[in-house]
Amino acid sequence: MSEADNPPAASGTFTVPRHVAIIMDGNGRWAAARGLPRAEGHRRGVEALRRTIRAAGEIGIKIVTIFSFSAENWSRPASEIGELMGLLRRFIRNDLAELHKSGVRVRIIGEREGLDPDIARLLVEAEELTKDNDNLTLVVAFNYGARQEIARAARRIAAEVAEGRMKPSDVALETVARFLDAPDLPDPDLIIRTSGEQRLSNFLLWQSAYSELVFLPTYWPDFDRAALEGAIREYQQRERRFGGLVAKTGS
Ligand code: FPP
Repeated sequence: MSEADNPPAASGTFTVPRHVAIIMDGNGRWAAARGLPRAEGHRRGVEALRRTIRAAGEIGIKIVTIFSFSAENWSRPASEIGELMGLLRRFIRNDLAELHKSGVRVRIIGEREGLDPDIARLLVEAEELTKDNDNLTLVVAFNYGARQEIARAARRIAAEVAEGRMKPSDVALETVARFLDAPDLPDPDLIIRTSGEQRLSNFLLWQSAYSELVFLPTYWPDFDRAALEGAIREYQQRERRFGGLVAKTGS
């Protein structure tokens, strides 16, 4: 195989995306198609998540953000909310040691206030235990909505102005970005949504301004390394111009 067939990771449009964000959609439809309860779809969704984190690390992706529970998901039946909370609890309890051993750093974005105290504690524990890891960062968007995140940033900026630490004229694009939930992370290069739906549903609205979007028909429980690689190949065929005229790499 020649050099041109296998370009280095950092060359031009063949760059492996540094940050991939995923809307893990279709658990319910996967279950319904098999006559199974929705909860089984979510359980199989956690298995797909494990596969994906492993594959992402092997491929060389540095940051994976997952939409695990949206601010709007509270409108689901109490039984399903209970199931999703139970899966998150079990995921952290059972998988945290393994993630830590693999050098995964866990970060959480979303509203913490009003969460069950034991869930809030588990989230802090996951962040604390893994804070020095740097093989891969797993950002879990939990109780997350992008509009809510931007409103939180606006409130914090307003407080800075009210207390005289900032002038309204100081508020630039970078200022807003600095007050978001994970201001130190680069924007996602690639956002994948499974299940055939083609919308962002209040996910990373600020950060996705120049992300490439890839929509796959696959239901989330069927997502695997091959699906991830397919999405990356599609990303690599896109020309990213960031509003300019010349193609640029994201990272
Ligand atoms: C969408 O499927 C998925 C969710 C609402 C939550 C995703 C959750 C998991 C993969 C498991 C829990 C996560 C962790 C981190 C342990 P849907 O229910 O909207 O599917 P549908 O659109 O087919 O009904």
